[in-house]
Amino acid sequence: MSKQTIFSGIQPTGIPTLGSLLGAIKHWERLSTEYTCLYCVVDMHSITVRQNPEELRANTRQMLAWLIALDIDPSQNILYIQSQVPAHAELSWILNCFTYMGELSRMTQFKEKSIKKAENTNAGLFTYPVLMAADILLYQTNLVPVGDDQKQHLELSRDVAGRFNKVYGDIFKIPEPYIATVGARIMGLQNPTSKMSKSEENINDTIFLSDPPNVIIKKFKKAVTDSDNQICVLPEKPGVSNLLSIYSVITGTTLADCEKEFEGQGYGHFKTTVGEAVADLLLPYQKEQARIIADTSYLTKVAEEGAAKARELAATTLAIVKNAVGFQ
Ligand code: TYM
Repeated sequence: MSKQTIFSGIQPTGIPTLGSLLGAIKHWERLSTEYTCLYCVVDMHSITVRQNPEELRANTRQMLAWLIALDIDPSQNILYIQSQVPAHAELSWILNCFTYMGELSRMTQFKEKSIKKAENTNAGLFTYPVLMAADILLYQTNLVPVGDDQKQHLELSRDVAGRFNKVYGDIFKIPEPYIATVGARIMGLQNPTSKMSKSEENINDTIFLSDPPNVIIKKFKKAVTDSDNQICVLPEKPGVSNLLSIYSVITGTTLADCEKEFEGQGYGHFKTTVGEAVADLLLPYQKEQARIIADTSYLTKVAEEGAAKARELAATTLAIVKNAVGFQ
């Protein structure tokens, strides 16, 4: 039996965060031996927010280098840049005609972003989840490893695929989300009731993968907790619970064992230990990323080879879809 397919994507807007690493990328690496994996730097999604062209070009390469440094091996995975595979845009148009305004209006991310970016609520922001559906459905994807924040978009992809199949027969595989039980929603360190995000204005809220060890430890020391001294996972203790989740994913220990490890300890020691574990985890990746980004021709070759493989796979589904809808 041939291997099943995995697809996932990440936006190249700025430096990736500890949230994207623990919620998604960590699982991408783990799954790549069992599946055919496509991992995509989604620069087309990024222009829903106004970008400086040179910065976007540089950030896209930075992100590619990060993924390679984080063990997404380009010889084992199809690693590529979205805009180098035009089939994404073509399928996205077709799927737009199978997606309702009502369902797009209900997307939480659209509602939030259209308030935050009221001056630029463009049509791309509105149809963003349709381009995501195209990314996924183009490769007959079985499984999509993402953080919890992408769940609603994945449900929409499934609905659109099902609707299309109802009209034209079994054209698309219906993709399943793959969302981890711990770490699927890493929260901000300053505001542990909202997810850690690269666009957060308070830089102490977010751990960027490029943060030096002393900065990481400082940010963890400043992390917001609460006024009692119990180190356990509870809904009314979002700060402490978040730090425990981070520590659990990084050390590969269950949450219950993490709670035991810190039993009777003070918050100061707890926060420093978690910060040190994160700093230790990231340091080798940071060195590797710096090495890879300096190797311009290697990165260009990875992107070109990945895009060529993706284009070939995408062409098969796109031809079937175009034929189904009645194109020449
Ligand atoms: P993006 O670039 O915002 O995030 C990349 C991945 O990281 C996960 N993630 C998190 N997980 C846990 N805690 C957090 N604080 C956290 N922050 C980010 C995200 O869930 C995501 O899995 N629209 C997508 C990119 C995309 C995509 C796709 C994903 C485009 N096409 C097709 C899957 C399939 C996005 O903006 O992810």
